Amino acid sequence: MNHFNYKDDHLFCEEVSIADIAATVGTPFYLYSTATLTTHFKAFDNAFSQPHITCFATKSCSNIAVLRLFASLGGGADIVSGGELFRAQKAGIDPKRIVFSGVGKSADELRSALSAGILFFNVESYQELNRLQSVAADMGVTAPVSFRVNPDVDPKTHAYISTGLAKNKFGIPIKDAFDIYKTANEMEHVEVLGISCHIGSQLTEISPFIESLRKLKVFLAKLEEAGIPLSYLDLGGGLGIQYNDEEPPHPEKYAEAIKKEMHDLNCTLILEPGRVIVGNAGILVAKVLYTKVGGKKFIIVDAAMNDLARPSLYGAHHAIQAIDRSRGENEIADLVGPICETGDFLSKEKEIPAFEQDELVAIMSAGAYGFTMSSNYNSRPRVPEILVSGSDFHIIRERETHDDLIKGEKIPEFLQ
Ligand code: LLP
Repeated sequence: MNHFNYKDDHLFCEEVSIADIAATVGTPFYLYSTATLTTHFKAFDNAFSQPHITCFATKSCSNIAVLRLFASLGGGADIVSGGELFRAQKAGIDPKRIVFSGVGKSADELRSALSAGILFFNVESYQELNRLQSVAADMGVTAPVSFRVNPDVDPKTHAYISTGLAKNKFGIPIKDAFDIYKTANEMEHVEVLGISCHIGSQLTEISPFIESLRKLKVFLAKLEEAGIPLSYLDLGGGLGIQYNDEEPPHPEKYAEAIKKEMHDLNCTLILEPGRVIVGNAGILVAKVLYTKVGGKKFIIVDAAMNDLARPSLYGAHHAIQAIDRSRGENEIADLVGPICETGDFLSKEKEIPAFEQDELVAIMSAGAYGFTMSSNYNSRPRVPEILVSGSDFHIIRERETHDDLIKGEKIPEFLQ
């Protein structure tokens, strides 16, 4: 369920006309609905009845206003960098609800997260464990640790966003993980608290999650026998959403399946959902600059692959809608941006509304991995982010200026 609906053929976000927002802030812009974000967060979080923390995957939509909203709903954060830690702290997320994932945390990042007092680190290698132990020893503290294991399970999703196969760079192969637990358990500045796994993103079936959970359970029993009981089980994120005709399971079904498997485990569950909460809570709004007919029909809009990389990067589908659909005609065309690359498209060879010059376009399901993956390629300022709440809208990130583009750049003396 989301709050992007037509009223008399005009697309609204909650109670606000999107054309009115465009008239005020210009195009392109990202637009999020507070009501949808809230509904999705609660639908996910309330689906779990056992002790758990929903640690929102910051990388999917990291604006501090969005993070603050989830903090106010009791959410935590899954972070993967010092930058995301900074955001989570700025948003007021309780550090005891923050977990730190990622294969390559630097010593500085480890230090910042230790000072912040996060819940735990999802450690992914021996070298990372040793570095964490030495940073913690320097600081005179104990590092809370969970190991991310790689269960070698096929998540059946796009190859670029599969993470739980043996050939992927993530985690410690589950068959080798016992030794690292034993080593860590003896370390003076490390406290072993949990186990984690994240097998991929945009999963549309429950079975790969359950297959990994079963592997984790066997491993947990072995650890317990060896006198290393764990308090946390982190199942990562990955639940998919509907972009087109996918039929991903509802969070309730996902939670139910997990609960059934976990009934004999005495661990607090950590979840790291991103897309399932924000994906359909945000859209990208653009304006048609020109239309032209070459070898095929092209609709050239003012948003591009630097604003939304998913179509170019993964061939991802995002539904294209007219903000004013009163004309109601469709045609097969490519919706493309101004960037000088053939790969710069937002929709390719699909039936979309027959747009005319200066019309507004909604690129749907862009709330996850939309703004956060945007760049300044072709020296295009990044677009603003707008948050609607009821009948109000708020600019939660300003449009970048040309000065922002060259911030920090310098012409050295020899070129002056
Ligand atoms: N936890 C970890 C350790 C992760 O690496 C990720 C996503 C998540 C949680 C959240 O997964 P989600 O619930 O959102 O599926 N840019 C790609 C997706 C990359 C996902 C990376 N990791 C895309 O646009 O489809």
